[in-house]
Amino acid sequence: MLAVRRGKKVEFSPEVLEQAQQIIRRYPEGQQKSALIPLLHLAQEQFGGYLSVEAMDYIAELLHLKPIEVYEVATFYSMFHLKPVGRYVLEVCHTGPCEIKGAEWLIQTLKKKLGIQEGETTADGLFTLRRVECLAACGYAPMLQCGERYYEFLDTEEKVDALLEQLRQNAIT
Ligand code: FES
Repeated sequence: MLAVRRGKKVEFSPEVLEQAQQIIRRYPEGQQKSALIPLLHLAQEQFGGYLSVEAMDYIAELLHLKPIEVYEVATFYSMFHLKPVGRYVLEVCHTGPCEIKGAEWLIQTLKKKLGIQEGETTADGLFTLRRVECLAACGYAPMLQCGERYYEFLDTEEKVDALLEQLRQNAIT
């Protein structure tokens, strides 16, 4: 259940608002609701990597929707974060095929190496760990998604270490 707590109002800058309007114009008159998912992505990117209630309310306002219509979509998809997350969100698939190929091992290994539990973020704000359902890369299990990229065949400590190191390096550069 989404706890509704309203704080500071948020809004896009004029440039981003124009980008949002362009997205809305892609859809026929009266079908603006179709722009909801792209606008939620834009809001998540613009408002600190997650969708606060204020951000969702703002999108509802832009699309002339009821806030509940936005909450329903935002809470359904695991790609939308409803609370602050780290710079890298490691989303480990744990559905059948990945489970058979070591998803649980991968989750436990990440927990140990990062010193966090599922749903938590490391103290340096770099990594958040989540367990998600099938990401449609079953043939490459065990795998995880981080941002727009998939990391596959993560079945050894060396591969996990290399991935974490690569992400840490990316954060510096
Ligand atoms: S079961 Fe993991 S990607 Fe499909």
